[in-house]
Amino acid sequence: MARSPLLNVMTQTALKAGRSLTRDFGEVQNLQVSMKGPADFVSNADRKAEEIVFQELSRVRPDWGFLMEERGAIEGKDTQHRWIVDPLDGTTNFLHGIPIFAVSIGLERDGEVVAGVVFNPAMDELYSAEKGGGAFLNDRRLRVAARQKLPEALFGTGAPFLGRGDHARFLYEFRQVMSETAGVRRLGAASLDLAYVAAGRLDGFWERDLQPWDTAAAAVIIREAGGFISGIDGSKFDHLQGDVACGNEAMHKALLGQLQIAENAFRAPRA
Ligand code: IPD
Ligand code: CA
Ligand code: CA
Repeated sequence: MARSPLLNVMTQTALKAGRSLTRDFGEVQNLQVSMKGPADFVSNADRKAEEIVFQELSRVRPDWGFLMEERGAIEGKDTQHRWIVDPLDGTTNFLHGIPIFAVSIGLERDGEVVAGVVFNPAMDELYSAEKGGGAFLNDRRLRVAARQKLPEALFGTGAPFLGRGDHARFLYEFRQVMSETAGVRRLGAASLDLAYVAAGRLDGFWERDLQPWDTAAAAVIIREAGGFISGIDGSKFDHLQGDVACGNEAMHKALLGQLQIAENAFRAPRA
C-alpha cells in the first residue's frame, strides 16, 4: 500500500512510541509484586511514549498544535492543523500485563479529523486511514463486517469504573444489548475497540464519556472501512463529544435502536 507522506510520518511515530511501550510492557510484568511500583512505572511509560510522539511530530511539522492526554492542548502557529494523541490507550490493561493497548494519533484539519493511526505494539497491528484513501490493518485493506442480524452480532463497549460515569445507565444498556446479541466484550482500549469494528472483528461498539484522543484517529479508520459512527443518540459524530456508537450501516442502526430502548427504560419512573 502507498501511504501519503503525512500518514507515513504518523505511522513511523506510532511505531517508535510503540517500541518504547513494548520495552516497558516487558518490564511491567516483573513489577506486579508491589502495589505502587507498577502504577508509577506505567505513568512513566505513558509520559515517555507521549514525549516521543511530541518530539517526532514537532520535528516534522513545527508549527502544528497538539491535543494530548498528558500535556493537554498546545496551540501551534498554524491553527489549521492539530495532532490528537493518546500515547497509551488501555492503561489499565498495560498495568495488568494484558496486551490490549495502543498508541493513537489523529490529525485534525480545520476541526475535522482527516487521518488516523492506532498501533497495538503487543500484537504488531497497525490500523491506519486517511480520508478518501481507505483503511488498512498493516498492509491489508479493511472492511467492516457484513452481518445484518443482531442475534449473530458481537458488540464491544466500555464500562464505567470506580469514580467514573453513570453505572446505573450503563447496566441498562448492557442488559439490553446482551439480551439481543451474540455477546458483548469489554476490551479496555477504546481506540482498539473502534479499530476492531473497522476490521470486522466486532460488529459494533458503544461507549459514553470518552475523550477526543480515544476516538479521533479510529473514527477515520471506521469511516474509511465503510462503517457508520455517531453519538449514542444518533447525532452526528463529533470527536470532541464523548459518546460514540458505530457499526456497519445495519448494525449501527440496530445498536442505536437498542440503546434507545435502554435509555427509555432507564428514564422510566420506577416504583
Ligand atoms: C481508557 C480506555 C478505556 C475506556 C476509558 C478510557 P486510557 O483510556 O480507552 O477502554 O473505557 O474510558 O479512559 O485511560 O487507558 O487512556
Ligand atoms: Ca491514555
Ligand atoms: Ca484513552
